[in-house]
Formats: sequence, structure tokens, C-alpha cells
Amino acid sequence: MRRIKTAIVGCGVISDVYMQSFRENFSVIELTACADLDEGRMNEMAQRYHIKAMDYEDILKDDSIELIINLTSPKAHYALSKQAILKGKHVYSEKMMAVTYEEGKDLCVLATEHQVRFGAAPDTFLGGGIQTARYAVAHGLMGNVLSGLLSLTRDYGVFGENLPHLFQNGGSVLYDMGGYYLTAVCSILGSVKRVSAFGARTETSHKVTRVGSPFFGKEIPLEEDNIVTAILEFENKALVTLHLNSGTIINENYHLELYGDKGILRMGDPNTFCGEVVLEKAQNQPVILPFTHGFQKQSRGLGAAEMAWSILDGRPHRASMEMALHVLEIIHGIFTSADSEKIYVMETKFELPKPLPEGFIGEGFWAAKEESALL
Ligand SMILES: NC(=O)c1ccc[n+]([C@@H]2O[C@H](COP(=O)([O-])OP(=O)(O)OC[C@H]3O[C@@H](n4cnc5c(N)ncnc54)[C@H](O)[C@@H]3O)[C@@H](O)[C@H]2O)c1
Repeated sequence: MRRIKTAIVGCGVISDVYMQSFRENFSVIELTACADLDEGRMNEMAQRYHIKAMDYEDILKDDSIELIINLTSPKAHYALSKQAILKGKHVYSEKMMAVTYEEGKDLCVLATEHQVRFGAAPDTFLGGGIQTARYAVAHGLMGNVLSGLLSLTRDYGVFGENLPHLFQNGGSVLYDMGGYYLTAVCSILGSVKRVSAFGARTETSHKVTRVGSPFFGKEIPLEEDNIVTAILEFENKALVTLHLNSGTIINENYHLELYGDKGILRMGDPNTFCGEVVLEKAQNQPVILPFTHGFQKQSRGLGAAEMAWSILDGRPHRASMEMALHVLEIIHGIFTSADSEKIYVMETKFELPKPLPEGFIGEGFWAAKEESALL
């Protein structure tokens, strides 16, 4: 079986999850090398996964490496992905593909010009939860989707004291978490037509009071709003409300709900692969739907693996650059609308990625193998 020779750039927290996933779940990815500005992290990951620690420049010069997986911090995504695309390599990027919409468009144009694949996270929409929800909607279990509610509350005052990028451009709750909610709903409903939004900041800067934090005592400016509310009008006329608040208490609350003329669908946390899907029909008790699809456990790397199988098969990949750019444009549209006090009209549209085939649940000796769903 041909495998896709792959290198990872960015050996931080999430790289361990990806590398483990490739070793255990996705045989199509032949992981050969990793790079990071931080040599200690790079060497540690290289040793742990028996791959080569290399300078990024040397990875780009190595013609045998076909795919780069970009797991660096969001601000580094654009420059590193661009370098790889210009060298004719396929790229899969962690979220978001870039910080600005302009940079995102540039990457998509370059990938098209250089005839390479460009895919981007989040890939949780390919997980058992959201694929089951999509199956339920597509099979008419809730009729026409009329409206929806996407809501998340967190406390980035606490998280940001360890991860100050959450206070910076491209790191606020809309980028960091909004992308999961927006990708999940877009992967079910398709493109958004117009966006109207308000934003607010609970503080202009945050003083780090966490004793022991390397940032203790620092006053970190909040570069983006930490409360965002928006209304998204989809091309199919559904009106969806987005509410994100990362200035409230630490207890996390999430809602991902769609309201149709024949039922209501509640999904689980779109930052996971396993969210339960609950269907409510008129004058019935709500029921938990059985999962129709596999990939219910931690499966980060699924989007990249699906892209690798698509490259081998010559078909479009599902975590497409068009859908990821559309989600980035929604984020851009939300900030633009909030700043200008005007409705933002979307420029981009995308084709809905094909759903994964039903089944392929589990990994037991007699169960269908999950990776076979990607062929
Ligand atoms: N941590 C999570 O739970 C999580 C979950 C899902 C997605 N993500 C996404 O994954 C990405 C990485 O997140 P993380 O938590 O692993 O961050 P991290 O800060 O732990 O790791 C990022 C790594 O990138 C390296 N890096 C930065 N710029 C670089 C450059 N120019 N060249 C080479 N290396 C560079 C850093 O040295 C660091 O080791 C982000 O896009 C994030 O949104 C993270």
C-alpha cells in the first residue's frame, strides 16, 4: 500500500496527539520528520516517535516529503504553509489556516496555482457526532432546518494566564473555539450569505495573577473582543445565532442546536469527536440517536489522513480549503460587522464536502476498521 510521506512542523501540545493518531489509527500517513524552533521539543518528539528532527528548510528541500502538517501557533501558519506550497508540497494546517482573511485567500490561490492540496482543521466535523447529525438532517429527521443556536462560555482570564496568545489577534475565543462551531454547522447547512454582529471586551488588558506563571505580574492587552454575538443568514435561509463569551466563569457551557419544521437536533461539544446527538420530535421524549459513523474517540489527524487518502484516489478532500476559508471569512465578517455596525455580505461559497460513508464503527477484530471509511 502506498503511503504519503509526511513531516510535521510545530512540536507543541497537539503534535503528540497527531503523532500518536498517525502511529495507531492512520496507516496512510508515513510520518518521517518533524521541525520546531524549539530544539528541545523537536528532539523530544523525534525520539518519542522514531522520526527525524530536521530544520524546516531541509524538510522543504527534501523532495521525498509530499505533505507538511502545520501544527505551529496560529500566527506562524500563513508563512510556513506558504513556503511549503511554493515548494510544491501538499499542506494540512491546524486551525485557523491564517489569521487574516486576506492571508487565507492568498494561500488558497497559491495552492490552486501550484496544484497542491491544501486542507485545514478543525477535523472534528468528520467525527462520529457531527457526521451522525448530518446523516439525521440529510435523512429528513428534522425536516427543513429553519434556525440554530451556537453558544460557548469559557473563562480565558484563567486559561490565558498560561496561554497568553488567547488574548492576542487570531487567538481570541472566536478564532480559538468559534471555528469548531462554525465548521460543524457549515458542514451540515452549507454556505453563509450574510453576517451581522456585535462584540464587546470585558477588560482592555489582563493582569496575570497566577502565582508561578511565567507571565506573573504582566499586563497583557486584549487585542480582540472576548464577547461576540452574531446572526448568520445561510444561503438556505436558516438563521443561526452565535454567542461566545470567554469573559465569564470557568465552567464551560456549550450549545449546538438546529431547529427544523419537523424536529430539533442537539449536538454535543464540536471540539470533540464523540458528541451525542439528540433528536426531539413533537410530543415525544427526546432520544439519543445511535452513532451512524465511526471516529468517536480522539481522532485528531483525521482531516489530514482523509486528505492523504484523497490524494491517492485523486478525489477532493473533505476538510477542504474552500470550507476553511469560508469559515475564516465568517470570522472576518463578524469583526467587520461589529466594527462597522453594518451587515457583512459574504464573498466566498463552498461545496459541501461529501459525508463519510455510514458505518465503519470500531476497531475490534470483527468490526469494520474506521480508516476504511476514508478510502
Ligand atoms: N492544544 C490543543 O488542545 C489544540 C487543540 C486543537 C488544535 N490546536 C491548534 O494546534 C496548533 C498548535 O497548538 P498547540 O497547543 O500545540 O501550541 P503550542 O504552543 O504548544 O505549540 C506550537 C509549537 O509551534 C512552534 N512554532 C511556532 N512558530 C514556529 C515556526 N515559525 N517554525 C517552527 N516552529 C514554530 C512553537 O515553538 C511550539 O512548539 C494551533 O493552531 C492550535 O489552535 C491546539
